[in-house]
Amino acid sequence: MRKKIIAGNWKMNNTLAESVAFINEIKAEIDTEEVDVVVCPNALSTVSVVNLLEGTNIATGVQNVSAENKGAFTGETSAEMVVAAGAKYAIVGHSERRQQHNETNQMVNLKVLKCLEKGVTPIMCVGETLEQRQQDMHFIHIRLQVEEGLKKVENPASVVIAYEPIWAIGTGVCATEKEAEEMCKYIRNVVAGVFSQRDAEAVRIQYGGSVTKDNAKTILNMPNIDGALVGGASLKRDFIDIVHF
Ligand code: PGA
Repeated sequence: MRKKIIAGNWKMNNTLAESVAFINEIKAEIDTEEVDVVVCPNALSTVSVVNLLEGTNIATGVQNVSAENKGAFTGETSAEMVVAAGAKYAIVGHSERRQQHNETNQMVNLKVLKCLEKGVTPIMCVGETLEQRQQDMHFIHIRLQVEEGLKKVENPASVVIAYEPIWAIGTGVCATEKEAEEMCKYIRNVVAGVFSQRDAEAVRIQYGGSVTKDNAKTILNMPNIDGALVGGASLKRDFIDIVHF
């Protein structure tokens, strides 16, 4: 039985003071053993959030990580630094990084591998544009993202995959539970094809894109959806309701 994993991606929101205040406000209410809960604040808030969450079941993640170990990479954060900060997860290949920072499947793959090498659990995002879906290219696109993203990974269950259709992110247009389930099931089949049926049964696949406290339950009760990656709603008390879907 796969344990659900609900992660909040705060994106470029919340100063350190705001992060601290919000975590103090919600932490008792999102502290549960029923699901894995992860919050991903801005990098400058990571250490403080980790400290505030000590002794709870809530994990901290970062929103991006470098594929390099160290050195002349201005502005980057290494996986080793993520571990040293006490964070356990890293969102990798979010569509905003792919689109705004030209991250390719190959780059995403190197980040995934670096995370695994250093002991960080990657949350690897995949997702198609509206055009790709309209042209019926969404399955082949996602297949490539999954296959290339997981290249040389030994144990795919050590990666969390987040299916986030780009047309659903921040738009208020959540995929229907049927659309989300269809693609998450497809992703599981892709994992089965590359690895094994057993691996496919073990890997956790989240859905993300306009998840709210109102649609979370329907989405999260689908058989192949093992959690949610939540943007906007994770900045509000709504996140509490989502965690307790
Ligand atoms: P959203 O963002 O929930 O605001 O649509 C999801 C995400 O980008 O991870």
